[in-house]
Amino acid sequence: MIASGEHRAGGQFHRVAAMRGEPLSLSFDGQTIAAAAGQSVLSALLAHGRLLRRSEFGDDPRAGFCLMGACQDCWVWSQSGGRLRACTTPVAAGMILASRPVLPPHG
Ligand code: FES
Repeated sequence: MIASGEHRAGGQFHRVAAMRGEPLSLSFDGQTIAAAAGQSVLSALLAHGRLLRRSEFGDDPRAGFCLMGACQDCWVWSQSGGRLRACTTPVAAGMILASRPVLPPHG
């Protein structure tokens, strides 16, 4: 999990124009992230914080690289345990995402 202070250190991305899509919010590591319809998960998360996750091969910060679905550097995990590419996934209201794999609830 990413330390909460890392999210509050300022966004990696900075908006240069007003958001045009319908305002919505999602959850990332338990924090509420403001976003707008039409925005990618990656742009929403990096407008809020400086990284998406830590590397699975060490503790290096990851924040995406190619921004077009090719490098797999932007994986984040859904509440169901599946992973998704943040750069090619549009935000949706009520998304619950995490910076690490999440074990699905036991049925
Ligand atoms: S940033 Fe490269 S696949 Fe998402």
